[in-house]
Amino acid sequence: MDDKITFTITRRKLTEIFMGLVALFFAGGAIASVLKYLWPPAQANNAAVEIKIANVDEVPTGSIKKFMFNGKACVLLHMPAGFRAFGSVCTHLGCIAAWKPDENLIECPCHLGKFDPNTGEVVSGPPPSPLPAIDIVVKDGAVFALNWKDPNYVKTISFYAGAA
Ligand code: FES
Repeated sequence: MDDKITFTITRRKLTEIFMGLVALFFAGGAIASVLKYLWPPAQANNAAVEIKIANVDEVPTGSIKKFMFNGKACVLLHMPAGFRAFGSVCTHLGCIAAWKPDENLIECPCHLGKFDPNTGEVVSGPPPSPLPAIDIVVKDGAVFALNWKDPNYVKTISFYAGAA
């Protein structure tokens, strides 16, 4: 008596199984991304992390310092009314806006969008929204970044992931 069990599978069936596994893999990744977006991981605590941007005396009134925050290009401005910090990624198409001291504004070189250096609001040009502001604190002779004023900012500019 022959106890061998034979199992036959066609090349077509094997290909279908393989393609099904590949589709399942990608569908799982897409679903996981959507779930992570809808329910981001909770932070360990609500305490803001202070990231030192500069010593106060490094940035005299009327000058700026560029820095990175959450992986995004940003700028610290020392205006007569005090320190301000904004993300530099233009809200139009993601170019990096720059400080124009002679014009007293922040300007995007791509399509000449202009932003108010005190508020980040659009002064002129095509940007649809202000530059994202960063909460800062000045203490112990230094300026620290705390977080984006709009907590959804990083999500909304993920489109520009390569631009910062
Ligand atoms: S990308 Fe800044 S104005 Fe167009």
